[in-house]
Amino acid sequence: NTKQHFRLAVIPGDGIGKEVIDEGLRVINHLEKSSNGKFSFETDYFPWGCEYYLENGKMMAEDGLEQIKNHDAIYFGAVGFPNVPDHVSLWGLRIAICQGLDQWANIRPVEFLPGVESPLNHPDRDHLNWVLVRENTEGEYSGIGGRNFTGRGPGKEVAVQSSIFTEEGCERIIRHAFELARTRKRKKVTSVTKSNAQQYGMVLWDEVFERVSKDYPDVETDQWLVDAMAAQFVLHPEDLEVVVASNLLADILSDLGSALAGSLGIAASANLNPDRKYPSMFESVHGSAPDIAGQGIANPIGAIGSAALMLENLGLQNEAELINKAIRETTKEGLLTADIGGKNSTKEVTDGIISHLSKIH
Ligand code: NAI
Ligand code: MG
Repeated sequence: NTKQHFRLAVIPGDGIGKEVIDEGLRVINHLEKSSNGKFSFETDYFPWGCEYYLENGKMMAEDGLEQIKNHDAIYFGAVGFPNVPDHVSLWGLRIAICQGLDQWANIRPVEFLPGVESPLNHPDRDHLNWVLVRENTEGEYSGIGGRNFTGRGPGKEVAVQSSIFTEEGCERIIRHAFELARTRKRKKVTSVTKSNAQQYGMVLWDEVFERVSKDYPDVETDQWLVDAMAAQFVLHPEDLEVVVASNLLADILSDLGSALAGSLGIAASANLNPDRKYPSMFESVHGSAPDIAGQGIANPIGAIGSAALMLENLGLQNEAELINKAIRETTKEGLLTADIGGKNSTKEVTDGIISHLSKIH
C-alpha cells in the first residue's frame, strides 16, 4: 500500500462516543503533524445517531452507505441513547454499516495495561492478552423473526428470533482466526459455541472448525462451550490466545474480557472487511455510556486503541505500535480515568498519551 493520503469517515454517534472520538482524532492529528508529510488524513463528519433520528426519523441518511463506502476507513464512536429504543438505534446505524459493508470480522483484543487495577487475581496479570474474533454479519444477529404473528392477543404473545449460520460465513471467520493465530506467539485458536443446546447452526460451526483446522497443522486448537469458556476466562486466562465465536457469544465474551482487564473503557475493536472491497470500521467496544456522558470523564483509551487498529489497517504499523506503547506508558505512570481507579479527565489522559508519543517518536 503506497497510498499515504487517507480519507476517514467519522461517525461520533451518541453520548461519550462524541467525546472519545475527538480524543482519538487528536492523537491521529499529532502523528500526522510529526510525520513530516509522510502521511495525511482528511476527515468527513457524519452527524448520524439518536439526535439525527429524532429529527429525521432514521438513524443515518437514506444513502448513508453510499456516502461512506469509498472512504479508506470509518472511525466510529458509539450509538444509542435513552431517547430512542436500543434495538432501533443499533440496527439503524452500527449493524446497518457492519452488515451493509460486509465487515464480517470483528477483532477485539483484550489487553491488560500496567497500572490498571483488574478484578483478575492472576500472577501474570500484566502480561495477559488475547484476542476475540467475532463473526459480525450473521449468527444470532441475523434479524430474522417476528412478533405476535399467531394473533393470540395480549398476554399470549409469541416471538421468534432465528439465527443464521452459513457454511461460508463460518468458514471465512474461522479461517481468519487461524490466519491471525499464525501471526502470534503461541499459535492457538479456541472455538466457542453452545452446540450441545443449539444443535443445527452451531454444530455446523463445529464441523467447519474441524475441517478448516486440518489446513493449519501448525496451529493448536481447542473447542469449548460458552458457559465453560466464561469460567475459563476468569480461571485460566493464560490458556487463551485467539478465541473465535459467533456474533452474540463473542459480544458477551468481549465485555467479560475487557472488564477482567479493568474496564470496558479500555477495549478497542475493528470491524474488518478483510476482502478490502469496502472500508473497515474502528470503534471502542463500549457503548454511549449515558450515565457519564457530558462530564468529560470517559476513558478515551478504547477509542485511541481503536485508532491504532485503524492505522495498522491502513498500513501504518509503526504509528499503531507507537500509540499502543504510549497508552501503556500513560497508564503505568498513573494517569487514569475514574473507571480504572484514577481521577484524571478524558482530556488529561489523551494529553498524557500525546506527550508520551512526542517523547518516543
Ligand atoms: P456502555 O458500554 O455504554 O456502559 C456500560 C458501563 O460501562 C457504564 O457504567 C459506563 O459508564 C461504563 N463505561 C463504558 N465506556 C466507558 C468509558 N469509555 N469510560 C468510562 N466508563 C465507561 O453500555 P450500556 O450502558 O449497556 O449501553 C448504553 C447505550 O450504548 C445503549 O443505548 C446501548 O444500546 C449502546 N451500545 C452501543 C454500542 C456500540 O455502539 N457499539 C455497544 C454497546 C452498547
Ligand atoms: Mg457489546
